[in-house]
Amino acid sequence: MKFFVDTAEIDAIAELNDLGMVDGVTTNPSLIMKSGRDIIEVTREISAMVDGPVSAEVVATKAEDMIAEGRKLAEIGENIAVKVPLTWDGLKTCKVLSGEGKMVNVTLCFSANQALLAAKAGATFISPFVGRLDDVNIDGMDLINDIRVIYDNYAYDTEILVASIRTVNHITDSARIGADVITAPPEVIKKLASHPLTDKGLEAFMKDWAKTGQKIL
Ligand code: E4P
Repeated sequence: MKFFVDTAEIDAIAELNDLGMVDGVTTNPSLIMKSGRDIIEVTREISAMVDGPVSAEVVATKAEDMIAEGRKLAEIGENIAVKVPLTWDGLKTCKVLSGEGKMVNVTLCFSANQALLAAKAGATFISPFVGRLDDVNIDGMDLINDIRVIYDNYAYDTEILVASIRTVNHITDSARIGADVITAPPEVIKKLASHPLTDKGLEAFMKDWAKTGQKIL
């Protein structure tokens, strides 16, 4: 399963990228706002830093304008995936841009039927938002399961990019279901390394080691 980092913070991406943990990056208008950076400049920096797809989102709502914005964003680098919302205009944009050979990430997906439409429109990635579904008492992982079954039934090659990840369990469940990609905030990815028994075990080893009076270096 590929790991994308869901942030526009350069330092956080660099830290994970140096460890080989970054297969791509996703941003959205809220993350750009949080970074305080210019969208073109920060996307260019991220695109140069990572090898994998970097999603940059359009903000227009009419297909014609979305297409123009998408083309401009795609000029930033060959690894740019143009992110469009799952609206009728977004699907039109997806069809046109994917027809031009550009990667398209269809975002704000909350149903299996929406995911079906995105695949038919040629999306490279579909981004179902699990955390926001959980927030309204709908199990987000059920949606990932449904999309996996539907895409496999018809051999769609659109990749399932699990988004709006809030917990490490969302990542475990995504891997179990066979999602292609997860995108998560850097702090959630770093939490994957934590386990209380690891901390407890290490503490005991350090105590015993101190009693030996030895040194390795
Ligand atoms: C990623 O593509 C999405 O924009 C992001 O995961 C949304 O996450 P949120 O629901 O925590 O804002």
